[in-house]
Amino acid sequence: MNKIPLAMPAIDEEMIDAAINALQNEMLVMGESVHKFEEEFARFIGTKEAVSTNSGTMALSLAIMGAGIKKGEKVLTPTFTFIATSNAVIHAGARPVFADISLKDYLLDPERVEERLKKGDVRAVIPVHLYGKPADMDRFMELKEKYEVSIIEDACQAHGAYYGGKRAGSIGDFGTFSFYSIKNMTVGGDGGMVTLNDEDIAEKLRSIRDCGRKGKYEHIHVGYTARLNTVNAAIGRVQLRKLDSWNEKRRHIASIYREKLKDVEEITLPPEDDEKSKSVYHLFVIRTKKEGERDELMKYLKDNGIGVGIHYPIANHMQPIYMELFGYRGGEYPNSETAAANVLSLPMFPLLKDDEGEYVAEKVREFYGR
Ligand SMILES: Cc1ncc(COP(=O)(O)O)c(C=O)c1O
Repeated sequence: MNKIPLAMPAIDEEMIDAAINALQNEMLVMGESVHKFEEEFARFIGTKEAVSTNSGTMALSLAIMGAGIKKGEKVLTPTFTFIATSNAVIHAGARPVFADISLKDYLLDPERVEERLKKGDVRAVIPVHLYGKPADMDRFMELKEKYEVSIIEDACQAHGAYYGGKRAGSIGDFGTFSFYSIKNMTVGGDGGMVTLNDEDIAEKLRSIRDCGRKGKYEHIHVGYTARLNTVNAAIGRVQLRKLDSWNEKRRHIASIYREKLKDVEEITLPPEDDEKSKSVYHLFVIRTKKEGERDELMKYLKDNGIGVGIHYPIANHMQPIYMELFGYRGGEYPNSETAAANVLSLPMFPLLKDDEGEYVAEKVREFYGR
């Protein structure tokens, strides 16, 4: 068996042609493909508007600004997510506060969030649809009404996922997406998108991401140069058309892993879909039950030519920069710390072949002497 990577983007001739065509025939910045990509993405997600950006982090920051959060106001994020979720809060001038995840699905726990919201000082909550699995949006929308907070969905790992028949990113006040190279869809590099239904806020965000412009040299915001490039948008349009079929392929690989690993009692498999939520398996993450075993399993799989990863090895409150900035010590968010110590991501991408998936599962079984 050849080496199997953890993840790999799918770039085909159609995307290369689209990129060349955009390069040769469009304005490189804010060309026609950018506007078309925004329209098509909004339609796909099911919102009135979509505003493209140069990264998912910037999409999150723009959403926070769009929610009207002011300097120093508090925005709640999980402690177990890619650090960009809470970095974006800081970049937007706000202050991140945290709540722990649930170990059953690694998602922000609404009960912990409610405990924190009772203090009355949080203005927005960012549930993260981690690994492609939608968070409990019904509960978060209840909390929105009860505590008057904005809900910003971090769907940077959940392009195309469903919750209650709606796409992730269409339920809260804002949805945010990343098109980094190994996400469920990419733009052939970095990129991001904010989805929303409010046209006035969309116009404001379009201005902020484009130097704060109103006209060519009239500026109504202290803006950023945070546009999505035209060539990237052209690639993104082709990727978007393929996304649903790629997600089906990911779900198929997930079903192979599940079937082959269901009797391995030493590990916990990812949560299954329920009637509400349908995951798009950005990652397939298992958790070892025995202290310290994750790293041995990781080494065994690597030695057998299998690309594995840890998403994420350090809970956010334990990141050196956050300990320095906010004085966290450890122990405050135990579920996140347990997850960080024990999770392991198996290869997952649409071009992964069935026999490769089977080989990966076999090697996990072998490690446990099955
Ligand atoms: C959950 C989550 N939030 C935010 C981001 C930030 O996106 P980007 O890397 O495009 O800035 C990412 C991806 O990297 C992510 O996985």
